[in-house]
Amino acid sequence: MPAPEVTAPAIDVEGLVCRYGDTTVVDGVSFSVHPGELVSLLGPNGAGKSTTISVICGLLAPVAGDARILGRSVLSDPLHARAQLGIVPQDLALYEDLSARENLTFWGRMAGLSGRRLQGRVDDVLALIGLADRSKDKVDTYSGGMKRRLNIGAALVHEPRVIIMDEPTVGIDPQSRRHILDSVKALNREGQAILYTTHHMEEAEELSDRVVILDHGKLIAAGTRAELVAQIGEKTRLRFVVPEARDEVMRAWDALDEVDSVTAHDDEVVLIVDDADAVLPRAFDAVAATCARVSHVSIEPPDLEAVFLHLTGRGLRD
Ligand SMILES: Nc1ncnc2c1ncn2[C@@H]1O[C@H](COP(=O)(O)OP(=O)(O)OP(=O)(O)O)[C@@H](O)[C@H]1O
Ligand SMILES: [Mg+2]
Repeated sequence: MPAPEVTAPAIDVEGLVCRYGDTTVVDGVSFSVHPGELVSLLGPNGAGKSTTISVICGLLAPVAGDARILGRSVLSDPLHARAQLGIVPQDLALYEDLSARENLTFWGRMAGLSGRRLQGRVDDVLALIGLADRSKDKVDTYSGGMKRRLNIGAALVHEPRVIIMDEPTVGIDPQSRRHILDSVKALNREGQAILYTTHHMEEAEELSDRVVILDHGKLIAAGTRAELVAQIGEKTRLRFVVPEARDEVMRAWDALDEVDSVTAHDDEVVLIVDDADAVLPRAFDAVAATCARVSHVSIEPPDLEAVFLHLTGRGLRD
């Protein structure tokens, strides 16, 4: 009987330790990204995200540990890694006095493409990043967001199987940001494995299958959003603005089994619950049975920011 096919992880980081001088900036980090998966590497400034990526890209030798791309070590086989990887660096790597088309053609040639195949790939990438109509203009006439989009495009010309993006949305306008997030999703839908680095937890929430959270060089949590939130036991907050008969309805809400706690803050009443869908109809039944009036309600499910806060006592952007 043939052995079952085992697919190696797209990226497999194991026991990584990196130092600059005497300072350990990555400290025993292990995680993987499987084929077709989008994993966000989330952490505040200085957490060690770019350093980890530098090792995966073969640009920095770790003190200990290894990174494998599709089963092969970047330390012993850096050429394999380079051929499989599309790397979007945190700092722009573009020729400002060349056009978008010329920049993409350059990077395609560097990766060994030529002729019709190269031209076809450049056209595809220009369409994906939404720069086809500006493709002949020099990069130094582009907005910051357009440069960011081209920076991503440059990593994609050679159709890499694994894509690494280091904070691709830093310092750009909301429209370009939306465009980039949609392009990332499109690439992932096509089956690309993506490691997406960010310190915006909303981006990680929107894009990722799984999240790896780094802080001070250490992996402090990893899993799906739901797993991470469940791990810290965080609950949903329901906020009601109750202009009339507040005390009466608070007593009624307090009596509901599914409600953990009821507290008043200014004109708001906050209910802490496990299951908002189950509680909301009952909470409104309780309102109807009293003289109370609710003028606004909001639902705050637990999020990755809450996870980070819980684990470190700090916000992601503190
Ligand atoms: N070339 C270098 N020489 C010395 N120290 C460095 C160097 N590059 C990074 N560091 C330090 O290593 C630590 C991790 O930096 P790294 O760039 O990996 O963080 P990051 O998570 O990517 O942060 P950011 O969100 O700001 O990009 C920081 O304390 C940083 O100051
Ligand atoms: Mg960085």
